[in-house]
Amino acid sequence: MKLVLLGPPGAGKGTQANVLSNKFGVVHISTGDILREAVKNDSETGLLAKTYMDKGDLVPDEIVLSLVAEKISKDDAKKGFILDGFPRNKNQAIELENRLKNLEMKLDMVLYFKTKESTSIERLTGRRICPKCGLNYHIKNRAPKKDNICDACGIGLIHRQDDKVKTIKNRLKIYKNQTQPLLKYYKNSGLLRDVPGDLDVDALFKKLKTLFENENLI
Ligand code: AP5
Repeated sequence: MKLVLLGPPGAGKGTQANVLSNKFGVVHISTGDILREAVKNDSETGLLAKTYMDKGDLVPDEIVLSLVAEKISKDDAKKGFILDGFPRNKNQAIELENRLKNLEMKLDMVLYFKTKESTSIERLTGRRICPKCGLNYHIKNRAPKKDNICDACGIGLIHRQDDKVKTIKNRLKIYKNQTQPLLKYYKNSGLLRDVPGDLDVDALFKKLKTLFENENLI
C-alpha cells in the first residue's frame, strides 16, 4: 500500500501511521520526524528547518522534497509506504507525483483525517513525546503509566516547542491556506477518502482496515 495521510495538525496522522506501519509492514515516512531528527543532530538542514518549525511555518519545499525523494527511492519503500505530513502544498504534490512516476510507482489512496479544530488544539496541547524513542502520549487520551515518564525508556517526556497555543494557531492557519487545497486536488484524481479523525485510535484503525479490504489494498 502506498498512502498519503492528509489532515490538520493534531488529527492523529502520526499515531495512526505508526499503527498501520506495524500492522502492515510498510515504511512510515514522516517529514516532521525527519526534520526534527535533523534539528536534533544540529545538521545544516536542521538548523535552517528549525527557524521555520519553531514558528509553525512550512520548511522550504526544496529541503523537504530532497528528504522525501531519498526515502521513497529506498528498497524498503517498494513494498509500500505511508507518507505522513507530506505533501503539504500543491507544488509538493506535483513533485511527488513526478518522482513516483520516475520510480514506476503511484499512490493507492489519500486518507483525509477530517477533524474538528477544537480536537486538534486539545490533542496538541496535551501531547507529550519521549525524546529518546519518540513514543507519542497524550496527558488524557494516551497517558503514560507514570506521570510524564516514558513507559518504554523511563525518562521524562517533553512538550513539543511548536505545540504551544500561539504556534498551533499559526500551524492551523498555514494548513487552511496551503494544505487544505490539496483535498480538491486529490478528490479530482479519485484518490481521496474521508476518514473520521475524531474517532479513538482503535476505532479508526478498524474503519481503515475495512476500507482497505473493500478496496483490495490488503
Ligand atoms: P509535523 O510533525 O508533520 O506536524 P503536523 O502535521 O502539524 O502534525 P502533528 O504531528 O502535530 O499531528 P498528527 O496529526 O501527526 O497527530 P499525532 O498523531 O501526533 O510537522 C511539524 C513541522 O515540520 C511543520 O509545522 C513544518 O514546519 C515542518 N514540516 C513537516 N512536514 C513538512 C512539509 N511537508 N513541508 C514543509 N514543512 C514541513 O497526535 C496528536 C496527539 O493526539 C498525540 O498526543 C496523540 O497521542 C493524540 N491522538 C492521536 N490520535 C488520537 C485519537 N484517534 N484519539 C485520541 N487521541 C489521539
